[in-house]
Amino acid sequence: MTSNALATDAAFKALATAWTTREGRILDLFATPDRFERFSVAYGDLLIDFSKTAISDAILTQLLELARAGRVEAQRDAMFAGDHINLTEDRAVLHTALRDQASEAIPVDGIDVKPGVVETLARLGDFASGVREGRIAGARGGVITDVVNIGIGGSDLGPAMVTLALAPYHDGPRCHFVSNVDSAHITDVLKGLDPATTLFIVASKTFTTVETMTNAATARAFIVNALGEEAVGAHFAAVSTALDKVGAFGIPADRIFGFWDWVGGRYSVWSAIGLPLMLAIGPDRFREFLAGAAAMDEHFRSAPLDQNLPVLLGLIGLWHRNACGFPSRAIIPYDQRLARLPAYLQQLDMESNGKSVTRDGAAVARPTGPIVWGEPGTNAQHAFFQLLHQGTDIVPVEFLVGAQSHEPALKNHQDLLVANCLAQSEALMRGRTLEEAKAQLRAKGLADDKMAEIAPHRVFPGDRPSVTIAYATLDPFTLGRIIALYEHRVFVEAAVWGINAFDQWGVELGKELATQFLPAVTGGALPASASASTSGLIAHLDAFSGG
Ligand code: F6P
Repeated sequence: MTSNALATDAAFKALATAWTTREGRILDLFATPDRFERFSVAYGDLLIDFSKTAISDAILTQLLELARAGRVEAQRDAMFAGDHINLTEDRAVLHTALRDQASEAIPVDGIDVKPGVVETLARLGDFASGVREGRIAGARGGVITDVVNIGIGGSDLGPAMVTLALAPYHDGPRCHFVSNVDSAHITDVLKGLDPATTLFIVASKTFTTVETMTNAATARAFIVNALGEEAVGAHFAAVSTALDKVGAFGIPADRIFGFWDWVGGRYSVWSAIGLPLMLAIGPDRFREFLAGAAAMDEHFRSAPLDQNLPVLLGLIGLWHRNACGFPSRAIIPYDQRLARLPAYLQQLDMESNGKSVTRDGAAVARPTGPIVWGEPGTNAQHAFFQLLHQGTDIVPVEFLVGAQSHEPALKNHQDLLVANCLAQSEALMRGRTLEEAKAQLRAKGLADDKMAEIAPHRVFPGDRPSVTIAYATLDPFTLGRIIALYEHRVFVEAAVWGINAFDQWGVELGKELATQFLPAVTGGALPASASASTSGLIAHLDAFSGG
């Protein structure tokens, strides 16, 4: 089931015309008194406000038409039904099954996947509880105080992001994350850790990723050097779909947790890949996290398109990318514990939708996935917001903000955080005219000639769109809802573009060349096909490599 190219073409053209022929600014749209009510949608305490975009009633109608033309609902149903929608890898896409709360079977190729999911979750829960309660200890009986997750991409970004996000709920061992093959990463993490009380989780869907295997070998040596070869079993656990490859590492079977090829790496935080979070917050809280995502799944499946949060967020993305032509979007959580969310969404969004061919292999007709980037506010305000306000490119911003912090005694901080978040979206939209800038300077007593010189620098074009996602507080349930919201938003955009969001062939070529270049870096020959730039760089690095 693919999108309908002719119908989506027509809908995209109509939207592009709506953008180029629009009259007035975003601010003018607020002349309609109920604009906020009409252009914001709440699902419980989770609200998306898109009233500060240029979307009007007519444009929203056209966007909903685009969703229908793109057969979003049929494609969504095909995903939930376990169809092999990941065509190039001939796989189902069922990360939603990992958090499904219903009792019905979820068949993939005629076999119900639910029993395996339930059983693995129970095994993970037993293991996590054992470690947290000290029943599962180090080789010399030491209670595990530190957990180091070794993984990269989806085997790192998800667990790292959610573990930081839910810090107020931590009551288990400290969690650390090693991903980069750069020796600096594992060295800095291991510094200060006691091997006798450290547990390593080797997390790799394929169990072949060179960064992870290299770091795992270094971690293994760390344990062996301190505690002996026989200690490896007590200080390692593994998470993978390639169970055959894990055994060779020396990890006992009861510490190996599987998942399935119908779970993409960047969609895997709900699987055993989420073990660090479960160790940190406990199995019950982890289930709340899953329940949040399940609630969003249910909403995505059942809410009408015009009330459907992931559909609306996806349509806003399509509007900004294709009708307005904006090349990037910024994710700015006003929530320090979501500091890794932009990086997580970079993989989720850019690895999924950074595609140039449609599902049937033809060149795409229009730009696909935007560049996704960001940092938490308020820090971002003091870094790159200058460009957002006065730069020559327009970057739609997605703000995230909670109503309550976890530090009620520091409510003054929370008040400032919220005020800043709201002020930024308002400032982006309103801007400041030359006349307003002059009036401000005049009020400060500047002479006319000085005022004329300075005022242009204090003009803000304004009319810059943003979306605000607001929620009560960042608890496990809400975090689950937010991540699932973004997963489905990526799905909606891919569905309309008619691309496969679930493969990632674009990362392969670099990996292949790295394998070819390694011999040259270690003194051997460079492949003849390598450019003069690469051979020159190797010679330069070799000259300064210190041996
Ligand atoms: O290189 C890209 C990628 O395949 C990601 O899609 C994946 O999340 C990451 O590498 C890690 O892969 P693995 O979990 O198999 O080690």
